[in-house]
Amino acid sequence: MDVSEAVDSRLSVREFLKNPVEDSLIAELLEKASRSASGGNLQPWKVYVINNETMQSFLKFQSEWSEPETPAYAIYPEKLSEPYRTSRFEVGEQMYSILGIERDDKEGRFKQMLKNYEFFGAPAAFFCYVDRQMGSPQWSDLGMFLQTFMLLAREAGLDTCAQEAWSLKQESVTAFVEAPEEEMLFCGMAIGYRDTKASINKLRTNRRPVETWAHFLKK
Ligand SMILES: Cc1cc2nc3c(=O)[nH]c(=O)nc-3n(C[C@H](O)[C@H](O)[C@H](O)COP(=O)(O)O)c2cc1C
Repeated sequence: MDVSEAVDSRLSVREFLKNPVEDSLIAELLEKASRSASGGNLQPWKVYVINNETMQSFLKFQSEWSEPETPAYAIYPEKLSEPYRTSRFEVGEQMYSILGIERDDKEGRFKQMLKNYEFFGAPAAFFCYVDRQMGSPQWSDLGMFLQTFMLLAREAGLDTCAQEAWSLKQESVTAFVEAPEEEMLFCGMAIGYRDTKASINKLRTNRRPVETWAHFLKK
């Protein structure tokens, strides 16, 4: 698989097979992904892997946690302007339409959203944390690291879904992983093998045309 194939075949998988993923494979991918660039070579990512029996105990712990939680951060700006608002709206509509969930089926949509908190059935996952002293430049480094991991996962025949949804459950996640006070949760990463029969995994999301966001300056 070349890089273009890895990029093109990566998608956010939202239904995984139960096939396990070895810790050793995840460790190998993390090590390779650590070659990602980061400003000043800070390598600001912190990763907590959840796999095997730890996945079972985590899911049990999660389902029993009853404290209301303060979100780690605001996922989106309060008032998204165009064209971002439409892009966000479109992906939601595409997803629910593939699943046959109607626009006014609030319960159906909510149930689908809750699948985030089971990692969409993925057998393995990690949580990505960052030191609270870091700012937006280092958060962009996290993105590079995560994308590199997702592409390497494709090369290994694996699939992923990055999940900011976990930021809404940062207190319970942090209590479980025992991250120190100075670290904050950015996102989860579901890891496993895609269920190719699941309709949700057939979602090919739109992209805005290059000429709407790239400008080849001629002066
Ligand atoms: C940092 C990050 C966090 C994300 N969080 C979630 C999430 O919580 N739940 C979810 O279903 N998808 C999540 N996604 C997936 C995006 O919705 C997805 O990347 C986007 O719609 C483009 O689709 P694609 O990944 O299939 O190309 C996240 C993606 C990124 C990069």
